[in-house]
Amino acid sequence: MSIVYLNGEYLPKEEAKISPDDRGFLLGDGLYEVTPFYEGVPFGLDGHIARLLRGLCFMRITFDVSMLEEMHRTLIAKNGLDTADRSMVYLQITRGAAPRTHYFPEGDVQPTVYAFAKAWSRPDDERWNRGFSAATVPDRRWSRVDIKTICLLPNAIAFQDAKEKGADDAILVRDGVAIEGAHQNFWAVFGDTAVTHPTTNNILPGITRAILLEEARKAGMKVEERPIQVEDLAHADEAFFTGTTGEVRPVVTIDGRPVGRGVVGDVTRRLSDLFLARVEAVKRAAGAGV
Ligand code: PDD
Repeated sequence: MSIVYLNGEYLPKEEAKISPDDRGFLLGDGLYEVTPFYEGVPFGLDGHIARLLRGLCFMRITFDVSMLEEMHRTLIAKNGLDTADRSMVYLQITRGAAPRTHYFPEGDVQPTVYAFAKAWSRPDDERWNRGFSAATVPDRRWSRVDIKTICLLPNAIAFQDAKEKGADDAILVRDGVAIEGAHQNFWAVFGDTAVTHPTTNNILPGITRAILLEEARKAGMKVEERPIQVEDLAHADEAFFTGTTGEVRPVVTIDGRPVGRGVVGDVTRRLSDLFLARVEAVKRAAGAGV
């Protein structure tokens, strides 16, 4: 049975009730975060909370985030996920329930705070080593995708379009630039340099992306944050996505054409190893499995 968190209470999912007047439901007036846990140890939680706080400020929602770490840990524990290899907490905060208006409701409206936890798994080594395919699709999102809103219709359409083209994932293209995936950040490798889009209003500043940049720089690997022209993908040696439940995910074909030699490349492998080593270090520091 799944135990969820709703507005201060932990309860079975079936008992969680949200008002039909909720502005998240009616207007998409809300934010979300997905934070990974490894053997019950949060990974990058501070970054996720900081990104959420930035979104809350942008949306002018007043909410005290100081309870979030404990709530995340409690939810993982109540769902028996402390020992799960990989799990995550999905958190959503909306402006709350109020009669429908386009402007913000007046008076004291409490935000709706909902969270659930679940296990997820990494593709097995054989699947990962084969690499994944991606298809380019237009980026039809708004001009503030750095805010992690629950309005994911353009992302869902992009992913669906890519799926219908037979690809595993989408690369969103705006003005000739490969911006990011439908739910992950995108990287391409040219020679020995890994390149990813800079953190502007046009991409979601991924926590996995930030951690990987840090690890790569520490290891002396070459990284650049600059826009990637779609036409340059024809000369890329490697490509990959990064994200909470994707970790480092190799892309070996784009629009049916091989990226480089069409196999998972050395830079991608090395970055993936660095990422997984960081996960192990965080687990060790937290005393997981001891
Ligand atoms: N997606 N770009 C987009 C558009 C995303 O939705 C996400 C996260 C990322 C990667 O961010 P992070 O490394 O912080 O997970 C990039 C989440 C996981 C989701 O929608 O399920």
